[in-house]
Amino acid sequence: MPANQGALLPFLQAAVRNPTVIGAIAPSSPSLAQRLAEVVPSTGAPTVVELGPGTGVVSTAIADRLPEHGRHIAVELDLDMIRLLERVKPELELVHGDAARLGDLLAARGVDKVDTVVSGLPWTLFPLAQQRRILGEIVKVLTPDGAFTTFSYLNAYPMAGARRFRRMLRGSFDEVLITRTVWRNMLPALTYVCRRPRHDRLA
Ligand SMILES: C[S@@+](CC[C@H](N)C(=O)[O-])C[C@H]1O[C@@H](n2cnc3c(N)ncnc32)[C@H](O)[C@@H]1O
Repeated sequence: MPANQGALLPFLQAAVRNPTVIGAIAPSSPSLAQRLAEVVPSTGAPTVVELGPGTGVVSTAIADRLPEHGRHIAVELDLDMIRLLERVKPELELVHGDAARLGDLLAARGVDKVDTVVSGLPWTLFPLAQQRRILGEIVKVLTPDGAFTTFSYLNAYPMAGARRFRRMLRGSFDEVLITRTVWRNMLPALTYVCRRPRHDRLA
């Protein structure tokens, strides 16, 4: 059985109930999850934030790569996903909240700066102001040499919303790399790897 098959039904139920928050019809495949987790440092004691863990497929890939002294904090908005994750991933440091309040959520846990942010958020469904707000929070909490990664479905890549999002990424980071397509995913996807956050551009 594929590693993420058990997550399919709860994911689909959540997507039907709350389509504008979940923003996909299936969880990411292990291939896409591994690609996203590649930005997680594999040595030292990094703090990694995961946004929108959903049913936890990407969480597993992050945990597989995280060194022994690393910290992994996952921020999820949907309460049913939170309940599912509490059951299937009790080891996860889970925060029920909105990524738009990332700085406050982390401060409440005594965390000021993080090394990596891995996002599973449905960016293209967010209005412009929400995209800006969340990206601003990510830039704010990242260390100067920190990294941010997220994914885009290949079919959405040429669309105006995705082009606008890429422009926003390029305005927020000194370097934005676009990876090759992960074909083994429902739907095929690529990832953005963004480094050197532009703290000087923060409002
Ligand atoms: C497309 S799913 C991705 C789930 C999982 N990371 C994966 O790749 O399979 C998007 C996830 O982001 C969560 N989400 C959406 N908006 C959010 C927000 N503002 N703050 C935190 N989580 C959010 C949804 O509840 C959902 O679990």
